Amino acid sequence: MSITIRQEEERDSARVEALTREAFWNLYRPGCDEHYLVHMMRGHPDVINELNHVAEIDGVLVGSIIYTKSHVMNEKNEMIETVTFGPLCVHPDHQRVGIGTRLIEHTKNLVMQRNFPAIIILGDPHNYCKHGFRNGKDLRISTMDGKHPLGLLVLELQKGVFDNHDWRFEESKVYAIDEDKAIAYDQSLPYKQKGTAYSQELFSMLIRSFVE
Ligand SMILES: CC(C)(COP(=O)(O)OP(=O)(O)OC[C@H]1O[C@@H](n2cnc3c(N)ncnc32)[C@H](O)[C@@H]1OP(=O)(O)O)[C@@H](O)C(=O)NCCC(=O)NCCS
Repeated sequence: MSITIRQEEERDSARVEALTREAFWNLYRPGCDEHYLVHMMRGHPDVINELNHVAEIDGVLVGSIIYTKSHVMNEKNEMIETVTFGPLCVHPDHQRVGIGTRLIEHTKNLVMQRNFPAIIILGDPHNYCKHGFRNGKDLRISTMDGKHPLGLLVLELQKGVFDNHDWRFEESKVYAIDEDKAIAYDQSLPYKQKGTAYSQELFSMLIRSFVE
């Protein structure tokens, strides 16, 4: 099996959306809206096309990572530009063989080459602490409303860049999707059965968890 990681191209758009729908379906809620998010990201000024990458196995698209611009601001209104990834996904048939890790590691190197000091995401710590991500609280980075969600995760690429200040993280507005439009969009796609899964309960706990 040969896995290729390459930059995403325009011709991949529809396949990335379909893959995203497949990977997130029923995982965090009945159905999912991440494929609509990917749809809305196309052409958005905050998306960093050169960091977006896909994974292929023998020419079949099985993984995707999409990056956006983000920033943190300190108490003196000094800003540091950061990047955020998400959605990140691997087709369910090809998970747990290292593809997600390859997508993160490959693009992390590109982020470093571009001198961004950190990658900041909202995600499940289980997936990311093994890649060096730490909770925002430990780097004095909160959400815009001063909270420290369990899932606010920071990969510091320039050591000490956040020292001696308190920071608030702001992600791109592209992530604030309209739920009704997401449902309508999904209804325009081939039918998929919505269902429940215990991962939805875990997710519901995760998004209500904060670090003291
Ligand atoms: C999260 C996700 C992107 C990870 O992708 P992945 O390709 O499965 O990731 P990896 O294979 O690199 O690592 C996953 C696990 O497989 C293990 N693994 C990797 N290669 C392995 C191998 N050759 N043999 C056995 N285990 C292996 C890793 O150690 C890791 O184990 P852990 O979860 O117990 O820590 C993928 O599961 C996914 O798409 N999930 C649905 C969408 C999603 O939740 N996205 C993230 C939103 S926060």
